[in-house]
Amino acid sequence: MSGSFLDKVYDVKGAEATRALYDDWSDSYEAEVAESGYATPGRAAQALAAVMPDKSAPVLDFGCGTGLFGQALRRAGFTQIDGVDLSAEMLEHARAKDVYTTLAQIAADAPVHNGGDYAAIAAVGVIGAGAAPLSVLDTLFDALAPNALICFSFNDHTLEDPAFEARVQALVSDGRALQIRRDYGDHFPKLKLNSVIYILQKT
Ligand SMILES: C[S@@+](CC[C@H](N)C(=O)[O-])C[C@H]1O[C@@H](n2cnc3c(N)ncnc32)[C@H](O)[C@@H]1O
Repeated sequence: MSGSFLDKVYDVKGAEATRALYDDWSDSYEAEVAESGYATPGRAAQALAAVMPDKSAPVLDFGCGTGLFGQALRRAGFTQIDGVDLSAEMLEHARAKDVYTTLAQIAADAPVHNGGDYAAIAAVGVIGAGAAPLSVLDTLFDALAPNALICFSFNDHTLEDPAFEARVQALVSDGRALQIRRDYGDHFPKLKLNSVIYILQKT
């Protein structure tokens, strides 16, 4: 049924329920988000490409799902993309796309494996309402090497909780990060839902 998982996803709570929902959604995820005009992966890949001249630098797609952001990164010229996700079923679809160097299933609270090796870690459509908690932003940020980038999005539902934007601005005002980009635009344009794409550089 059209819209069935998008209707449910923003109410899901906890890692196990999140993993189970994405396992169940995996076969129809791409058709459903395409129907709503899912724009954030393409916008985020363009934003990252604009600030990363070296497209052979390694990028981690955290919460890669079925691989839509990996595909967008490939189209933007990136060549070394690893993906990780909670959901084995979402990962099966990502594997079939053949755009990732490595793919791995991870536990919700796992530290980032070799996080310091990445020029950029991305979490597109991953942190906030319907997926991972805000603490994941700190986990990813802590894993970055100095000068590396983190690229992530918060949709309008997530931004209703001021803690998300406040956490980003605290990283900047504490001097731990430079805000390189903050772009507000389409997320699901057919649902009139937007997202902010952030790119921060660790100092
Ligand atoms: C809305 S989908 C986005 C997938 C992909 N990034 C995209 O833009 O199409 C959210 C993904 O995050 C994954 N996820 C949720 N919580 C996670 C966590 N704590 N660690 C890793 N992946 C997580 C889900 O399994 C799901 O595949």
